[in-house]
Amino acid sequence: MSVHRSQNEKKITTHQLQEMKNRGEKIAMLTAYDYSMARIIDDAGIDVILVGDSASNVMAGNTTTLPITLDQMIYHASGVVRAVRRSLVVVDLPFGTYQGNSSEALRSAIRIMKESGAHAVKMEGGGEIKESVDRILSAGIPVMGHLGLTPQSIYKFGTYTVRAKEEAEAKKLQEDARLLQQCGCFAIVLEKIPAELAKTVSKELIIPTIGIGAGADTDGQVLVMQDMLGINKDFKPRFLRHYADLHTSITNAVSNYVSDVKAKDFPNEEEKY
Ligand code: KIV
Repeated sequence: MSVHRSQNEKKITTHQLQEMKNRGEKIAMLTAYDYSMARIIDDAGIDVILVGDSASNVMAGNTTTLPITLDQMIYHASGVVRAVRRSLVVVDLPFGTYQGNSSEALRSAIRIMKESGAHAVKMEGGGEIKESVDRILSAGIPVMGHLGLTPQSIYKFGTYTVRAKEEAEAKKLQEDARLLQQCGCFAIVLEKIPAELAKTVSKELIIPTIGIGAGADTDGQVLVMQDMLGINKDFKPRFLRHYADLHTSITNAVSNYVSDVKAKDFPNEEEKY
C-alpha cells in the first residue's frame, strides 16, 4: 500500500499548485463529499479535494447536478474541511447561485468560505460568468474555472458527450481559458474535450489545467471518487479507470454480515461485554 503523506508536509496552497505546474509535477485531484472519505484521501496524499456538485448525482441520486443547493454544498464541504490536514479544498458553486448576478455570486462564494472553511470555489463557464468571477476574486476568494463539458448546462447541450470537437467551440474554449486566466483564476478544469485541444490550452496557459476525460497532457487529473473506486458499476465512460471494485467488496462484506447475523454467528463470545 502506498501512502504519500509525510509528517512535515505543508498544506497545499494555490501557489503550490502553480509551482507544481512550473516544475512539471502533475496535480492529483479527487472529489469527496464527507468527513470519512476526505480523511482517507487526504492521508493518502491527494493534492486537491473537490467538493463537487456531482454530490447531487453520487450522494443524492439525482440524474443531474442542477438540484443541489448552496446549503447542501456547505453541509458536504464542512465535513470535508474538518477531515483535511494537507489538501486544498475547492467547492463547486451550485447551479443558480452565481449565473447572471454578480452580487448573488459573491454572496454565495462568501457563504461557502465562511460557513464551510473551504479554501476556494469552482465555477462553470467562461465569458458569460466573467463579472461574477471578477467580483469573487476581488473579495480575495480563489476561483477555479471549469470549461468543456459543464454539467450545469446539460439542458443546453442535451448530452454528456465530448465537447469542443468543432473548430468554433474549440476556439471559444481557448478564448474562455485565456479570459479566466486573465481574470486571475488559479486553475481551470477541462472536462471531456479532445486531448489535443487540452494539450494546446495547457501549454499556452501559465496557470494549471486539471483534466477529466481530456487526455494526459493537462497539468493534473481529477476523477469522481465513487467512480474510480468502482462503487457505481454501471458508469463506465472511456476516460474512467477503476482503481478498486468497491461495489463487489461492499456487496460481499454486507452479504457475509447478513449471513452471520441470520446464522447467529455474530456477535460471538469475544464480541460481547
Ligand atoms: O462536480 C464534479 O465532480 C466536477 C468534476 C467532475 C470536475 O465538477
